[in-house]
Amino acid sequence: MTQTEQHLYRFSESPIWELQRSYYEEQGIKAWQTEEVPQYITSNPIIAMAYAEMIFGFLQDRARLDSTSEPVTIVELGAGSGRLAFHILNELCGLIEFAGISLPPFRYVMSDLADKNISYWQQHRGLIPYLEQGILDFAKFDAVKDTELRLVQSGVLLGKGDLHQPLLVIANYFFDSIPQELIYVEEGKVYECKVSLQLPSGVEGADQSPSEMLKQAVLEYHYRRAADYERKTYPYHNVVELYREKLEDSHILFPAIGLECLERIGQLSQQGFLLLTADKGDHRLESWEFAEPPKLIHHGSFSITANYHAIQMFFEQKGAVSYFTTHHHNNLNVGCILMLHDPMGYANTRLAYRRFIERFGPDDFFSMKEWFDGQLEEMELRQVLALWRLGGYDAQWLLQSVRRISDLLPDCTEQEMEDIRSGIHKMWKSYYDMNEMHNLALYCGFLLYQMYMFEDSLFFFEQSLHHSEADSEVLYHLAVCSYEVESYDCALDYTVKTLALEPEHEGALTLYKLVKVLI
Ligand SMILES: C[S@@+](CC[C@H](N)C(=O)[O-])C[C@H]1O[C@@H](n2cnc3c(N)ncnc32)[C@H](O)[C@@H]1O
Repeated sequence: MTQTEQHLYRFSESPIWELQRSYYEEQGIKAWQTEEVPQYITSNPIIAMAYAEMIFGFLQDRARLDSTSEPVTIVELGAGSGRLAFHILNELCGLIEFAGISLPPFRYVMSDLADKNISYWQQHRGLIPYLEQGILDFAKFDAVKDTELRLVQSGVLLGKGDLHQPLLVIANYFFDSIPQELIYVEEGKVYECKVSLQLPSGVEGADQSPSEMLKQAVLEYHYRRAADYERKTYPYHNVVELYREKLEDSHILFPAIGLECLERIGQLSQQGFLLLTADKGDHRLESWEFAEPPKLIHHGSFSITANYHAIQMFFEQKGAVSYFTTHHHNNLNVGCILMLHDPMGYANTRLAYRRFIERFGPDDFFSMKEWFDGQLEEMELRQVLALWRLGGYDAQWLLQSVRRISDLLPDCTEQEMEDIRSGIHKMWKSYYDMNEMHNLALYCGFLLYQMYMFEDSLFFFEQSLHHSEADSEVLYHLAVCSYEVESYDCALDYTVKTLALEPEHEGALTLYKLVKVLI
């Protein structure tokens, strides 16, 4: 280990942020495929449905203002794996089609710092239909400095004031992942917390990945009076002033870069922006009272708490109306900031927040699901299926409950089997495949096979081959399904392949004789 020779950094400029960027830039989609970086809570169908409802409300509000010709641009910051965007697009397109009302067109722009993420999205099977419809585009956007959005697919450059509609911004697990300042207030004075750092170096550090370096980084804080923050000229003076007056012995992560980023991107439109955001981090002043120095939460990269209090207060003072839940969240705080002319006029957007976040939202769903995860063995099929529906036919829930469903199948009714079958198809249609460790299609194939639904089962077993090579059991099941749907050539082919791997496979030997007669 070496000291970076007691070099004292501003928190936002310390080398941990450079390591964080390198991590995301180097890993690309691997960060999520390996499940290092958590994403379920911010990218599942439930949160996507809530966002889609708010976007749908926003489009209705714009239509009511007689603004239906110009497209509404939706920018997702730090879009990561792309799973949230995919679910939002599915849900939003479904809502628009179902409603059949006149709305402004929209385009969804997925943005990120990492080029590798953009390359991944460009070839993703689930996103291509939206690209072809011209409603999806991508952009590299660095929250720390960028002022424009260059859309990769269409080549359009969006600069200051170019948009005629307000901008819609989505930012999940974003404000906790970009640099923040760190201040400390005590007895009516503001201090800056400088940070010194010990990192592995030389031989020790030479072969270490950014993730390893981050894990081993030891941070030490040094307090310096920072009168700059107390000056009226500091852009976020009012917020800091409140902290100075109301808090004591408190460490406050200050989202200066997050605020600047929102201001910069908000300037793309002359009409302001609507922000939909979810993160760990509270909007209440009390949550910063007596706060200790921040702890880095490691997960490949690292994250720290987002300061929604500062973000909310700053924009409210500029005329925004904002919503965070009136109850306390457990794992995820979901907020909506309407930095718009006449924000109260956006009734449909506000109502959607009330219905889909405030009354029962993604954080509630996550808390309930955590409990249900441990109760599967006690659950009957009707409850397993009800939770699956509540979660928008969530693939994660099926993966967890597949064994329980399988155990319950012998006693289930025809109607229940039909519901499982149609649920599997709905889920598959809205599944964002990232080639993760599990083979979802294989589980579906086995469930459908158990219900003697051979045509459906065959489809899923074939899909499973894109994920991993089949063993003799999968090949045998493929052979039986093919036989049952009277596709005898395929049945023979799969039987031969089964026997090549397992010459004594009894089922395959019998099937071989049966099929041979039929060809
Ligand atoms: C914790 S991940 C969140 C991903 C996704 N929003 C989610 O909820 O799963 C943070 C994302 O922000 C991106 N990111 C990090 N620093 C950034 C920056 N300065 N500008 C833009 N994106 C950044 C990373 O590449 C990564 O995709």
